[in-house]
Amino acid sequence: MQIASPLKTSIPVALVLLLGVLAGCSVRPQPPQPVAPGPYVAAPIPSGEQGQQIRLGKLIFDDTPKYAHAYVGNQYTCSDCHLQSGTVAYASPMIDLAQNFPAFSQRAGHVITLQQRIQECFTRSENGQPPPADSKEMNALIAYVNWLSIGGVKGRSYAGRGLVPVPALTGHPVTGRALYAHQCAPCHGDRGAGVPHILPPMWGPGSYNDGAGMNKPPKMAAFLIRNMPQNHPGTLSPQDAFDIATFIHSMPHPAFNPAYKSY
Ligand code: HEC
Ligand code: HEC
Repeated sequence: MQIASPLKTSIPVALVLLLGVLAGCSVRPQPPQPVAPGPYVAAPIPSGEQGQQIRLGKLIFDDTPKYAHAYVGNQYTCSDCHLQSGTVAYASPMIDLAQNFPAFSQRAGHVITLQQRIQECFTRSENGQPPPADSKEMNALIAYVNWLSIGGVKGRSYAGRGLVPVPALTGHPVTGRALYAHQCAPCHGDRGAGVPHILPPMWGPGSYNDGAGMNKPPKMAAFLIRNMPQNHPGTLSPQDAFDIATFIHSMPHPAFNPAYKSY
C-alpha cells in the first residue's frame, strides 16, 4: 500500500502535466492586467434634499429610459456601460470623477464641464438629446457623481478610472463574427438586439449611435477585455476583443445627429 501510493499520485500528476502542455499549445497568454483597487465603499447618503437628489441621480443612472425619458433615444441605462451604478474599476466608473472636471476634452478640442461630458453620453451612447445643464435630471446626476466623489482630491483620478489600456491591434471581423456567435450571442442575441430592459443591444436601431465611444473598436475592446462576457470576464485575449469589437463596429448603428456635435 505504501509503495503504491506514490505511483498512484504520480500518474495523475503526469497526466495533468501532459494535459497542461497540450493545453498550453492553444491557450494564448494574457497580458498583465492592472490590479484593480479594492471594492468601492460608498459614503452614507445624507438626509434631506441633498440625499433625495443623490437617490434620484442613482435611479436615473440605473434606469435612464424610465427616469430621464425625455432625453433618451434607446433603452440603455448608464449602468449598462458604467457597470454597477458606476462603481466598477475599469468599467469607466464615476468614483472621484467630479473633481477631475472641468477638463480638456480631446473630442471637443476645449475644456468641458462634467455636465457637458454627461450630455455627450446622452447624445451619443443614449442616442438622445442633451438634458439642459440646469435640468432636474442633470442636477440629480451631478449630485450622484459628487456623492461618489466624496473624499476625492482635485486633479487626482481614481486608480480604476476609465478602461484598461490596450495595445494597438487590428481586428478581424470574420473571426470576430464567429467569436460573437459563440460567446456573446447567447445573451446579446444573434441579431445583436439584446433583450429590452435586460440585455443591452450591440447594433441595430436600438443601439448607441456611431458617434459613441463604444463605436470605436479600441474603446470597446478595452471594455470587453475587462468586463465581458459578463459570466466569464477576463477570458478574452486582446486580439479576441479587437476581432469582436471590429465585427460589432461593422454592423449598422444609428447615425449621430450632427446638430449635437458640440456635445
Ligand atoms: C453604450 C455605453 C454607454 C452608455 C449607455 C453611457 N456611457 Fe458614459 N461613457 C461610455 C464610454 C465608452 C465612455 C468613455 C470611457 C473612457 O474613454 O475611458 C464614457 C464616459 C463617460 C463619462 C466620463 C468618464 C471619465 O472618466 O472621464 C461620464 C461622466 C459618463 N460617461 C456619464 C454617463 C452617464 C451619466 C450615462 C447615462 C445617462 C452614460 N454615461 C451612458 C459609454 C457609455
Ligand atoms: C451572460 C450574459 C452575457 C454575455 C455572455 C455577454 N454579455 Fe455583454 N452584457 C451583459 C449585460 C447584462 C450587460 C449590461 C451590464 C451589466 O449589467 O453587467 C452587458 C453589457 C455589454 C456591453 C456594454 C453595453 C452596450 O450594449 O454597449 C457591451 C459592449 C457588451 N456587453 C458586449 C459583449 C460582448 C462582445 C460579449 C461576448 C464576448 C458579451 N457582451 C457577452 C451580458 C452578457
